[in-house]
Amino acid sequence: MAFSDQFLEELRARTGLADVISRHVKLVKKGREHLGLCPFHKEKTPSFTVNEDKGFYHCFGCEAHGSAFDFVMNTEGLTFPEAVEKLAQEAGMEIPRDTPEDRERQQQRQTLFDVTEKAATYFERQLRMPEGKGALDYLKNRGFDDDVIKRFRLGFAPDGRNVLKAALVKDGIEEDLMVAAGLIIKPDDDSRESYDCFRGRVMFPITDQRDRVIAFGGRILGDGEPKYLNSPETPLFHKGRVLYGLKLASGPARKDGTIIVTEGYTDVIALNRARFENAVAPLGTALTEDQIKLLWRVVPEPVLCFDGDAAGQKAAARAAERALPILTSGFGLRFAMLPTDEDPDSLIRSGGRDAMASIIEGALPLSEVLWRMETGGRLPKTPEERAASQKRLRDYARQINDSTLRSHFSSLFNDRIWSASRAGRKASGRGGDWAPSMHLEDAAGPKTPVSALERAQKVLLAIIINHPEIFDRVEETLGKFSFGKGRFDGLRQELISVLLKDAEMESDGVKDVLRERGYAESLDVLFRDPLISQNRHINAEATADDYQPLWNENVEFLKHLENAPEVEKVKKTGDAGIAEEDWEQTRALIKQSMPGSRD
Ligand code: UTP
Ligand code: MN
Repeated sequence: MAFSDQFLEELRARTGLADVISRHVKLVKKGREHLGLCPFHKEKTPSFTVNEDKGFYHCFGCEAHGSAFDFVMNTEGLTFPEAVEKLAQEAGMEIPRDTPEDRERQQQRQTLFDVTEKAATYFERQLRMPEGKGALDYLKNRGFDDDVIKRFRLGFAPDGRNVLKAALVKDGIEEDLMVAAGLIIKPDDDSRESYDCFRGRVMFPITDQRDRVIAFGGRILGDGEPKYLNSPETPLFHKGRVLYGLKLASGPARKDGTIIVTEGYTDVIALNRARFENAVAPLGTALTEDQIKLLWRVVPEPVLCFDGDAAGQKAAARAAERALPILTSGFGLRFAMLPTDEDPDSLIRSGGRDAMASIIEGALPLSEVLWRMETGGRLPKTPEERAASQKRLRDYARQINDSTLRSHFSSLFNDRIWSASRAGRKASGRGGDWAPSMHLEDAAGPKTPVSALERAQKVLLAIIINHPEIFDRVEETLGKFSFGKGRFDGLRQELISVLLKDAEMESDGVKDVLRERGYAESLDVLFRDPLISQNRHINAEATADDYQPLWNENVEFLKHLENAPEVEKVKKTGDAGIAEEDWEQTRALIKQSMPGSRD
């Protein structure tokens, strides 16, 4: 929803920035400003300033900066409209709605909150009634004490067709509202009566970030199907945009710097009992993009816990894939795998807090999880296997929209694969287990990296020759990379000298000058390579968006290879030494390693 500038201005003026901030940060007045310890990074001496006049806070330590809205969004994990709503309510301002429909929708939401709140209170009370004894016993048997029951507002929905409905009617609530809140089901067939959605179940209220009840999960006592029922989607509740326990978890999570994502209600509660108060869960579905973004508002690298079984692996894979397109620098995911047949609830029961802590400690970063998913945790041994793994890993990397991260992932995967290819030649007797520190030396003198080296050099040269406008940005890098005595170093040096003199030169002009200066043959070799000439990320039609990531990737790759001993040797002798059979064998792999060569 759009707020008018006028409204936001007035709200900003009426909101005491220092008041809002001092709920989270102890502030001391210093001249025109307030000073305190920054809530966005760890520090011992205060560098967080609040300027009430300007309406901004600013941290000289971590550069955090923003308005009252930003502060509320960042510390309480609210969206912009939610933050506005909250501050407006505190300031006693009514939010102007654009249309009467908006206004009505807002009023209905407000009314629905009343309904869900009344229901939650009702369920809580029932748990303490004689009728609720079975449910209370059930919870106690599972080790849920009174503290946890209160903290999570657990309750009981008695078994009966119209128990909740009757109670809410007494409170003066209309049936339509109960239906809209997802508590009562009205059959399509009008002649049949409506009935309670939850009957004979332990109730887990689901809240929003402002601690308002928006929906429920209900668990059957003991065995039976379905084990859980969840509220249907309502104007208050969109399953894919909510995380169970987030309101309670965000404070502790920010303090710890981690948030733990588990599978279910009881895992969240079990973690709380073991003093992990930073736990949340999606509601019976795979983690959605929206949920990942919610998590990133709390901490930069949430830890996702998955069962150690096949289903858990699959769920992990799905979460990893979901995250790729929305990854940006500074935000990641870590993955913790539980032992087979355990969930956090059972693990904590058998192994205590320590068992869980060590699982979380051992969580792997996203790139590592993708690598293991694709290689089964071993180094691929044959060229075919390597090519296949590389292709799949590359496909993952391509899904990352952030170009810096994309090239980071690509070069990481490439490094790994090339390590595999070098290690593969001598490691046949060594078992295929994946080990992070592979031995890369190879007595037989591996030649694969050399051809890859030459390929990377060609890519860089071709990009500049086709797109001389990049030269300004890359001059320094290009100057630093000696291409050794390989075929292309002369071309590199000449190219630099040509473009240093005239940086405005166009591609055709550059080619002409290079030919005149005796590099016709090198140019022919370069552009006769189909992987160069037919690569649409390099050719004349390519745009900066195409060639820049490719440039970055290959620079990274060259940097990595620079330290390899066999490359040193080539640089000294000028012997590219690509044996024909090696070339054939690794051709597929090299082809896969070329970004953009797929099409
Ligand atoms: P689990 O079956 O792992 O449940 O489902 P749980 O949370 O560990 O519960 P306990 O310990 O057996 O009591 C994980 C989550 O999947 C959703 C719920 O959100 C649950 O917490 N779920 C599960 C459903 O929505 N419906 C079901 O029938 C089962
Ligand atoms: Mn479970």
